[in-house]
Amino acid sequence: MSEKLRLAVLLSGTGRTLENLIEWERRGDLNAEVVCVASNRLKVRGLDIAHEAGIPTRAFKLSSFPDRAQRDAAMAGWALEQGCDLVVLAGYLSLLDLAGFGGITVLNIHPALLPRHGGEGCWGHHVHEAVLAASESESGCTVHLVDEEFDRGRILGQKSVPVLPDDDPDSLAARVFEAECVLYPETINRIARGALAI
Ligand code: GRF
Repeated sequence: MSEKLRLAVLLSGTGRTLENLIEWERRGDLNAEVVCVASNRLKVRGLDIAHEAGIPTRAFKLSSFPDRAQRDAAMAGWALEQGCDLVVLAGYLSLLDLAGFGGITVLNIHPALLPRHGGEGCWGHHVHEAVLAASESESGCTVHLVDEEFDRGRILGQKSVPVLPDDDPDSLAARVFEAECVLYPETINRIARGALAI
């Protein structure tokens, strides 16, 4: 794969990860373009960011569908209609039913060095609290394939950061997020140039 990947970004909230991918794309540093953004929540900042960047958006609220499988199938169908060839989770806070995605790869980034500090309930500040409680000397982030369980798919890349003696969950989260802002686009670029098999 050497041409630009066409990304569908799925999110649930603030959209900082999307913002970073758009920034890399604008600078010409991303071998991919964000072709659509879907959210499982209405009126989140991530949708506003996409809208301002001229990217098609749609929200798929669970209560508008009989169940999660049908919601996810609708979301997948829409993303495929937009012509995506890779799905990127960016702060998407739900399991995803992959049946509707037609075999397209789905990536996620997690704010810890998996397999430690992942799984259900281990998201956001909970992750960094757990890392500090375990007295880890390092943390970091992990890009992995998405399967039907939280944070368990094949690991594609990791980036470490130190845990400092005076860290609190916020300071650690900020350092890890800086690493995410490099690891996620670099991993997408490795996939785009065929250097990483998915
Ligand atoms: C980050 O912690 C990332 O690891 C996880 O979602 C958070 C970013 O969310 N996947 P957002 O981009 O700020 O919405």
